[in-house]
Amino acid sequence: MRIDILTVLPKLLESPFNDSIMKRAQENGHVEIHVHNIRDYSTHRQKSVDDYQYGGGAGMVMTIQPIADCIEALKKERAYDEIIYMTPDGEILEQVTCNALSMVDNIIILCGHYKGVDQRIRDIYITKEISIGSYVLSGGELGAAVLTDAVVRLIPGVLNDETSALSDSFQDGLLAPPVYTRPEDYEGHKVPDVLLSGHEAKIEAWRNEQSLKRTKERRPDLLEGE
Ligand code: ADE
Repeated sequence: MRIDILTVLPKLLESPFNDSIMKRAQENGHVEIHVHNIRDYSTHRQKSVDDYQYGGGAGMVMTIQPIADCIEALKKERAYDEIIYMTPDGEILEQVTCNALSMVDNIIILCGHYKGVDQRIRDIYITKEISIGSYVLSGGELGAAVLTDAVVRLIPGVLNDETSALSDSFQDGLLAPPVYTRPEDYEGHKVPDVLLSGHEAKIEAWRNEQSLKRTKERRPDLLEGE
């Protein structure tokens, strides 16, 4: 899979992909992540990437030209399955979307800044608009990092059996059960007996029960319609 991220702040995207699972996924050839500085595509004499908004109002708007030129240059090289715009008014990111995106070959992720991009960029190029939650960030970069991480870890082969995504929260429509490691007894706070029993069927049943309990308590919306 190949992910091209378009941003005016490429530095913000350096560290999230240079450690741990994301780093290994790139080293092992499961994913190529390319970060493009939109400013490099600006034909403006001062390399500007934003301008005042028509109709007035506070805040700058990202101009069409550098973004369109960057997207066109990428599209000349390969076909893209999705061109995604990170924006607080997009669809809220859910695990099902991550699952679907982990199966495609090439995606572009456009990060908005200031008041966002000129609407015509959205009309002409964008195939999907994603928000990572009902709050406003200073820009789309952190959202793009969240989306990329959530998608890349699902690419077959990226996680091994031990870190398998199959036991993640949401993957079966439920939150994950509690987990414990050594010591068995921490100042009187004990690991549940069943996890020490060695009885696989009982452990599995306990985990399912805990998953359901947690989901009912914390995210009853996930159980609606069942
Ligand atoms: N850009 C600003 N806020 C955002 C959000 N909540 N999700 C995605 N991109 C954003």
